[in-house]
Order: sequence, then C-alpha cells, then structure tokens
Amino acid sequence: MAQKNVAVFISGKGSNLEAILKKRELSYLDCNIPFVVSSRKDAKGLQIAKDHHIQTYVVNHRCFSSRHLYEEKLLELTKKHSIDIIVLAGFMKILSSHFMHHFTGPILNIHPALLPAFPGLNAQKRALEYGVKFAGCTVHLVTDNVDAGPIFAQEIIPVFNDDSEESLSLRILEREHILLPEVLKIVIDGNYEIMGRRVLIYDDNN
Ligand code: GRF
Repeated sequence: MAQKNVAVFISGKGSNLEAILKKRELSYLDCNIPFVVSSRKDAKGLQIAKDHHIQTYVVNHRCFSSRHLYEEKLLELTKKHSIDIIVLAGFMKILSSHFMHHFTGPILNIHPALLPAFPGLNAQKRALEYGVKFAGCTVHLVTDNVDAGPIFAQEIIPVFNDDSEESLSLRILEREHILLPEVLKIVIDGNYEIMGRRVLIYDDNN
C-alpha cells in the first residue's frame, strides 16, 4: 500500500512536530511528511522541520482578506501535496467547516487537557486554578466544534501541591510527545473506526 502523506500544522515551538519526525525516522511511523505549515513566521518549529529536511510554508491569516481565502490557500497546499492526514500540533488557528468540507481526510489535534474539560486556550492554567487533581492531554478528531471531536486517546497526569502552570504544562507536554505519534500511527495504519462520538481502536489481534 502507498505511504500516506501527512501534513503537520504548527504555530509555535514545534516540540510535538519534533516528536513525530523522530518517530518517523525510527520507522515507527510509516508515512511521508511532504510539508509543515506554520501560521506564524517566527514559529521555532519551522527550523525543526528544516533540520529534518521537510519543506515548510508560512501561511498567515493576516495576509488574506478573508478566512475563506486563507483556508483556500491551506487547501491548495493539501491538494498540491496529495495530503491524506493533517495533524494540528500546536496550531493556534481554528479551521472552519468550509475547510473540513473540502479536506475529507482525518484531522488530528492534540489538546493539553482531559477533554471535554478545559477546551480552548490556557487549558493547563485553568485546570490548575480550578483545582483538579488530575490534568492530562487528549488527541481527538477535529470537527466543526472546537476541541469537541471524537476522542482517540487521553493521558492522565496527576497535579502536585507545588505545581505551577509551567511545571504542569511541561509534564503534560512530555506525555503529548508520546500520545500524538501513537495516535498518528493508528490513523496511518487505519486501525480504527468512528461510531458516532466513539473511536474504536483495533490492535493487530482484533
Ligand atoms: C501543546 O501543549 C499542545 O497541546 C497545544 O499547544 C502546545 C504546542 O506545543 N495545542 P508545541 O508547539 O508542539 O511544542
């Protein structure tokens, strides 16, 4: 079977992108990564992509007169590179139903909270302030509703008495780096089925 083409969308540090690239280099992920696109030209993750010889693009919404045209540019890239799967790895823009209507493959997102708790921005800070004893991260399918698509996988991280937003975020991020490549592998291999809101994941034995 032909290798799947995976595009990674970023906006910042790119540590999740790096985790994916490393897993691919170890042959854990069997896919092509034709490009990485960033919504910001100063995203550190762009250099990570370049260091791994991946083509990069910067597509900043401010350079477009409408969200429609901005998303058309992203769609044009996915078509040009025959992308099968998109991974949002710290991508800070919201994609509309227009984008999802035209890109029909799976779009994965990693979120630093145990969804449906704490969707949106500053999830780790809000979890800490709320006083939860367990925080975590979620990999889910992207749908029209922000951070509300069917859930592939979650990891639970205990909150300690002396945690700050930074220390908790760091521990969550370490797990994100494991969870996101694991889910991407499942999606690349097609070992899942969506039943309503539920994602059924199959291993090789069932
Ligand atoms: C991660 O915490 C991710 O969950 C959130 O943004 C952060 C991105 O980090 N959506 P990085 O750019 O992958 O280092």
